Amino acid sequence: MGAAQITFANVSLGFAGRDGLVLDDLSFAVAEGEVLVILGPSGCGKTTLLRLIAGLVAPATGAVLVEGRPPVAGAVSATVFQNFRLLPWKTVAGNLAFVLPDLAAPEREARVAHYLDRVGLTRFADSYPRALSGDAAAGGLCPRALRRAGGAFDGRALRKP
Ligand SMILES: Nc1ncnc2c1ncn2[C@@H]1O[C@H](COP(=O)(O)OP(=O)(O)OP(=O)(O)O)[C@@H](O)[C@H]1O
Ligand SMILES: [Mg+2]
Repeated sequence: MGAAQITFANVSLGFAGRDGLVLDDLSFAVAEGEVLVILGPSGCGKTTLLRLIAGLVAPATGAVLVEGRPPVAGAVSATVFQNFRLLPWKTVAGNLAFVLPDLAAPEREARVAHYLDRVGLTRFADSYPRALSGDAAAGGLCPRALRRAGGAFDGRALRKP
């Protein structure tokens, strides 16, 4: 195992309007290559923990470090949300192209094909979201998440936060 890639040091967090803390003095470290499974009843704070790792929310006290630094949203990880926000009137490829507006058409098409290939969804490129299974829809969003993370696909996309 390598050095700790994710570190929680005495992390506490609550939300306004909600009694008590969601996470109370939580400390752990995850090394490179280590697999961490988060289990717990609904409302225990699993998504909140992932949001902290993704840099979408900051701890009230304590520290969260990802690769030694406080995470910046979109910079160190990618998030595929529980609700699939695919545009129903666009194909899978169209949904992906939609988040690449800054590229010229030929490069955009090449990038879309590349991402779909990486997640094994090339055969669904021309399908509409309504025709996809849940997993395929999640896969359709993975490239969008990858794009948001800067396009460096190294398998760290978070599933079902
Ligand atoms: N933005 C927010 N504002 C107020 N309360 C929140 C907010 N986000 C989460 N909570 C509350 O914090 C607690 C933990 O929520 P969280 O979404 O992390 O739970 P979870 O373990 O992911 O649940 P589930 O298994 O249902 O997805 C819940 O009581 C929830 O209502
Ligand atoms: Mg959750």
